[in-house]
Amino acid sequence: MFQLNENYLKLPGSYLFSTIAKKVKAYQDENPDKRIIRLGIGDVTQPLAPAIIKALHEAVEEMGHAETFHGYAPDLGYAFLRDTLAADYQAKGCQVEADEIFVSDGAKSDCGNIQEIFAPDSRIAVCDPVYPVYVDSNVMAGRTGDYDEATGTWSNVIYMPCTAENGFVPQLPEETPDLIYLCIPNNPTGTTLTRDQLKVWVDYANQVGAVILYDAAYEAYIAEDDVPHSIYEIPGARTCAIEFRSFSKNAGFTGVRLGFTVVPKDLKSNGVMAHSLWARRHGTKFNGAPYIVQKAAMAVYSEEGKAQLKEQVAYYMRNAKVIYDGLKEVGYEVYGGINAPYIWLKVPESMTSWDFFDYLLTEANVVGTPGSGFGPSGEGYFRLTAFGTYENTVEAIGRIKKLKRS
Ligand code: MLT
Repeated sequence: MFQLNENYLKLPGSYLFSTIAKKVKAYQDENPDKRIIRLGIGDVTQPLAPAIIKALHEAVEEMGHAETFHGYAPDLGYAFLRDTLAADYQAKGCQVEADEIFVSDGAKSDCGNIQEIFAPDSRIAVCDPVYPVYVDSNVMAGRTGDYDEATGTWSNVIYMPCTAENGFVPQLPEETPDLIYLCIPNNPTGTTLTRDQLKVWVDYANQVGAVILYDAAYEAYIAEDDVPHSIYEIPGARTCAIEFRSFSKNAGFTGVRLGFTVVPKDLKSNGVMAHSLWARRHGTKFNGAPYIVQKAAMAVYSEEGKAQLKEQVAYYMRNAKVIYDGLKEVGYEVYGGINAPYIWLKVPESMTSWDFFDYLLTEANVVGTPGSGFGPSGEGYFRLTAFGTYENTVEAIGRIKKLKRS
């Protein structure tokens, strides 16, 4: 009889955002007259920018003619895009070469898959709260030990609490990890690390021989000068860090799908480059991101595209301000929202994160994400996303303010 991968059976419940979607659907089915506003999952709502649409149309047209048709894409990405991405890094003072960039169908896939190239007994360290993909993908690989329902923790994972008490800055762990996941600007808390704070991590990783898996999916939202856009701004990062980038949040590609990962050739274990293993994995399991999507990504770096996307980011950050200011006005303790499209708020003392989820859903018909869904230190917190429309955001905050005042 065949055996299933029992590690999957250890995963508690379903993926966080699937659980929320099911709950919201059940409520909507029972209350069809209610207009629910969704500020839960960080999915964009603005249409693709005109420069991107133009590039997509042109690429689709090319696909309709034998002379310009494209079949399988190069598995690591088209040179036109990798060269452009490398030039963008270099223009910002980061040493990243085109052949160190691996184009993929999105940062979520890469964040989930990267663990495959590391030893099965690698010890992982995560911020707590954390984007669930990092832990869950390691559970599937059998790396996390046993789950303790009472504490919501895995026995073989090093947790680095990030709460209001420590300013959401993870402290260097006492036990030594092999793989350190950092997401800056942070999902879910919307907070960041300064250049100096990130340097502490780069120095530490180099000192103990760990790898930082750096998720920079939200870098386009950084507004403050001392927050790095890439870990490669920090000297020493090439020997200890892999960086994930996404087109989802900066260019609205959540439904188009594209991302990329940088694996520097200087990142080595016992003389072997992590780069070679990721290239081998990519070549074996991935047939390249679509030509039309990679062409669309080129528009992100055109002058026209840059200007349009700057406006789009500003649109979402205006929502972030509406949420941040509105919640503060009625007495909520709020964080994030300055360099990130997420606002992290403290729920009333008498409630858990899930209680607050139910309360907002039923009383204000607003959907958010319970902090405890991101890890035990997220208990008592709640996340709202700035990716809704402006009108819905204003209305949702109006409803929450009214509720608080009543
Ligand atoms: C989130 O809401 O945390 C994100 O949208 C999830 C993702 O990017 O996969």
